[in-house]
Amino acid sequence: MRINNRNFTFSTLLVIIALSMGLCSCQSQTAIMHSSFTPGEIWLDTDSVHINAHGGGIIFDNGKYYWFGEHKTAGRGGNSALVGIGCYSSDDLYNWENEGIALASANDPDSEIVKGCVMERPKVIYNEKTDTYVLWFHLELKGQGYAAARTGVATSKNVTGPYTYLGSHRPNAGHWSIELQGKMDNKEFASDLEWWTPDWRKAVNEGLFVKRDFEKGQMSRDMTLFVDDDGKAYHIHSSEENLTLHISELNDDYTGFTGKYTRLFPGGHNEAPAIFKRNGNYYLIASGCTGWDPNAARSAVATSIWGPWESLGNPCIGKDAELTFHSQSTYVLPVQGKKDAYIYMGDRWRPRNPIDGRYIWLPIRFENEKPVIEWHDEWDLNIFDN
Ligand code: GAL
Repeated sequence: MRINNRNFTFSTLLVIIALSMGLCSCQSQTAIMHSSFTPGEIWLDTDSVHINAHGGGIIFDNGKYYWFGEHKTAGRGGNSALVGIGCYSSDDLYNWENEGIALASANDPDSEIVKGCVMERPKVIYNEKTDTYVLWFHLELKGQGYAAARTGVATSKNVTGPYTYLGSHRPNAGHWSIELQGKMDNKEFASDLEWWTPDWRKAVNEGLFVKRDFEKGQMSRDMTLFVDDDGKAYHIHSSEENLTLHISELNDDYTGFTGKYTRLFPGGHNEAPAIFKRNGNYYLIASGCTGWDPNAARSAVATSIWGPWESLGNPCIGKDAELTFHSQSTYVLPVQGKKDAYIYMGDRWRPRNPIDGRYIWLPIRFENEKPVIEWHDEWDLNIFDN
């Protein structure tokens, strides 16, 4: 009786194992194929797991899209880099395969990218001269909140990585921006200026914080990258206590700064920058500064990356336009093979459970050369053919 019982238990177990293996393979065979975007909904990858690539950016390489983003974890604290920067690939922009961690946060307590630091808004570009992929991201050192304001760089010979960490920068140490050159030699600022007063605003405009950080390099928080048609690359970042965006030229191998930079909308309080080019014009989409909470997006246009930049106001229209449909910009993706097809990529942050953050992808259309973003519950790439 006992033996029988044991046999029964053993065979039942075998059946259960066989069944569950069958079910598993069946599940992966029937992984949901997406053929549309549903902004704000859970977006499953090809393993049926919610995509984990926040504050991301995309590179198109050898016929495939690669999406890099912050790998978040569950619960409070899940915004710090406990895992690193993840990568996904796709042929069609709807279905994404997890390519694993491209740059892992380190176990070494002496590393700048030790687990628990902040690694945000990663972007990858390809350098033709060196045949190398270059990854930049916003770095905050462990235990220092957002005080370090650095940008980190890593390279790899393979688009998906693993990337080798090279180090971090405070950009453009010892350089004035283009517009401040020749004006700063004898410039003095009062040391007791109260924030937000007219005198303080005037001083910010005239380079108060650029001067403060001249020797050690400028602050670099929210960032993006942009490669122009001539192969020149730019690092665009929130600087000067998040008050002013800087557009900085990268060197020939894209791993450092040349010292040439311009200040965009001094005192304008812009972050989450995204830049794209259309019909020879440069467009910027950015957010205001309210941390994880959404605010109204801003847009701007210029005929040269060096400006002058003209403000175009909020590109969003319709319900919740003043909150960017509860999202914050991270990238604008030009769709391959389609004319005038650009996708606004934003994050709907969930700071209490960061891994649950959602992706808000919406088509951008142009009215009188001005970008316009409208909400769609569901849409697909055919929208660009109409
Ligand atoms: C946002 C920024 C995010 C993250 C967050 C932290 O303003 O865009 O990338 O840094 O602040 O509070």
